[in-house]
Amino acid sequence: MTGTPHIEAAKGDFAATVLMPGDPLRAQALAENHLDDLRVVNRVRNMLGFTGTFKGRRVSIMGSGMGMPSISIYAHELFDYYGVSQIIRVGTCGGLVGDMQVGELVLADCADTDSAMIRQYPGSASTIAADPVLLQRVHSEARARGLGIRTGKVFATDWFYHPDAGFIDRLQASGVLAIDMESAALYALARQQGKRALTLLSVSDVIPTGERATHEARQNAFGTAIEVVLDAVLQIEVDA
Ligand code: HPA
Repeated sequence: MTGTPHIEAAKGDFAATVLMPGDPLRAQALAENHLDDLRVVNRVRNMLGFTGTFKGRRVSIMGSGMGMPSISIYAHELFDYYGVSQIIRVGTCGGLVGDMQVGELVLADCADTDSAMIRQYPGSASTIAADPVLLQRVHSEARARGLGIRTGKVFATDWFYHPDAGFIDRLQASGVLAIDMESAALYALARQQGKRALTLLSVSDVIPTGERATHEARQNAFGTAIEVVLDAVLQIEVDA
């Protein structure tokens, strides 16, 4: 048996770049729809991981699970043991801006959080920036291809059903674009380990209006935007 406690794969099974949706079935759908030469590289706990190629370049896609403890386990093992150099979270979020539509894309240039996990990182502030190179590449590739994306601060929360009724109002007042449950831990971990991380989110819940994506729409949240991301982020490896 080779691998780490939560991933059973050989050392070279993952590419240097990993896209991480929360849901492993979404990882499978993304891999099947957008990659060639596909191989399953992890099945432990059904947290499916795939490695394939996109326009001839190797890339992996694997689920992260929900929440900061879950993504931090998988991202740690990928960065630390499998030699992964960049992780791009491609998940869903709750949009906080009144005129947002389900399916809109949000790029997290930084992630704030109230999670106790992040305070345990030495020297960590609560707001952590995305990798500037990844951010700039995805941003400019999206612009060049006419893909609309809002860029700004995302807040990563441990609660999906938050017990504090004033929580959303305070985030909206401070200009946060969206909430998710993973971005801040991924950014903290990448910074600590000297790796690159970025989060691109599709709005699945518009909090001010109560509009929600169907399960089917969540499954296909990114459509062709995923290919814009792959083009942008795989070029970084070539340039490095
Ligand atoms: N809250 C937190 N995370 C989310 C949400 C939400 O409403 N929707 C999708 N991810």
